[in-house]
Amino acid sequence: MLFSIIIPTLNESENIDSLVTRLLALKVFSENFEIIFVDDGSKDGTQEKIRRWEARNNNIHLVERRAKPDLAASIIEGAATARSNVIVVMDADLSHLPEQLPSIVAPVLEGRYDVAIGSRYVAGGSTQGWPFYRQWLSRLGGFCARPICDVNDATSGFFACRRELITNIPENARGYKILLELLMTGQNKLNFIEVPISFHDRTHGTSKLSLSHHLIYLQRLISLAGGTVSFGTASRFAIVGFLGVFVDALVFQWMLNWEAGLALAHITSFLAAVTINYTLNSKWSFRSHSKGYLTWHQFSRFLTVGLFALLLRGGVLALLVYSWNIPAGIAIFPAIAATAIVNYLGSAFYVFPVNGNR
Ligand code: GDD
Repeated sequence: MLFSIIIPTLNESENIDSLVTRLLALKVFSENFEIIFVDDGSKDGTQEKIRRWEARNNNIHLVERRAKPDLAASIIEGAATARSNVIVVMDADLSHLPEQLPSIVAPVLEGRYDVAIGSRYVAGGSTQGWPFYRQWLSRLGGFCARPICDVNDATSGFFACRRELITNIPENARGYKILLELLMTGQNKLNFIEVPISFHDRTHGTSKLSLSHHLIYLQRLISLAGGTVSFGTASRFAIVGFLGVFVDALVFQWMLNWEAGLALAHITSFLAAVTINYTLNSKWSFRSHSKGYLTWHQFSRFLTVGLFALLLRGGVLALLVYSWNIPAGIAIFPAIAATAIVNYLGSAFYVFPVNGNR
């Protein structure tokens, strides 16, 4: 047995047959692998379809979970039953192409790497068929994980690794981000490679990703970051933010009074506010993280986060107004909230990481 493929399922009956057929067609391994489906109580006949394959092939198994449905817990449970020491994790909905599996498992099988990640965000990787907001959310998820884990696609669901790396993951791991849990359990010391994949949105069934999964992810990021975000830094950051708005408006008005053009007044007031915010955040809000030195490097990061947040604000606003028909006057509030959260997290993790100015 070369390796075990763990496939979590929740209402995927329309995808099972073509997935198994395409996996068994991977001639390169001469069917020398097992497929373990871990199902969380599907109601659409998924289990029956898998049972039919199980009856025909000794290397196909179904694990039926009775606990509360959870993706990460399913993968951990599946890995515990695996007969091989090398594991591949992939989705059941064919968004991960079975034909790309050999290039993902090879680096681990050959012992060259602890983990091989199917990555959408390295050269040669891509995401196809996802609506604009899913692409943004996915990028945002990766961006937020970046400071604690230097991976381009930390939320990928297609990866290979040694079995014990999954079975060592703490049992409280929840939600969609099992890869991040795995990398953090390895304390960032794992030897990993990112292999480009093209992710194709599913054509049958629906995604099970919900708002609660995003919140669980955020919560896990915060606890994995080990105190990087706190009420103290968040409240000081908010006060500085309000002060920045005040400075921005004041400088803008002052420039207009001196008959400066609109563009010049706008850019100058923005830069004045960013400079003051950066200085106060470094010297006060995040003083406990770094020693409060001001550097160009940090300043450029602060500016980058600010511009990213501004773009996000436009994206959220467009989504709420054009796709969900929410009036612009109301939509601006969640857009501002999203911007503030990203600005704060970007500052906490990226601009002023703990022990930043050592
Ligand atoms: N057992 C079990 N329990 N399986 C689940 C559960 C659950 O609670 N929730 C989802 N699944 C299974 C689905 O049946 C599918 O095989 C796979 O997990 C992925 O679920 P989707 O709901 O289709 O995910 P997605 O396509 O929206 O999300 C993709 O992008 C995420 C972010 O990058 C996937 O590639 C995820 O793996 C990835 O984290």
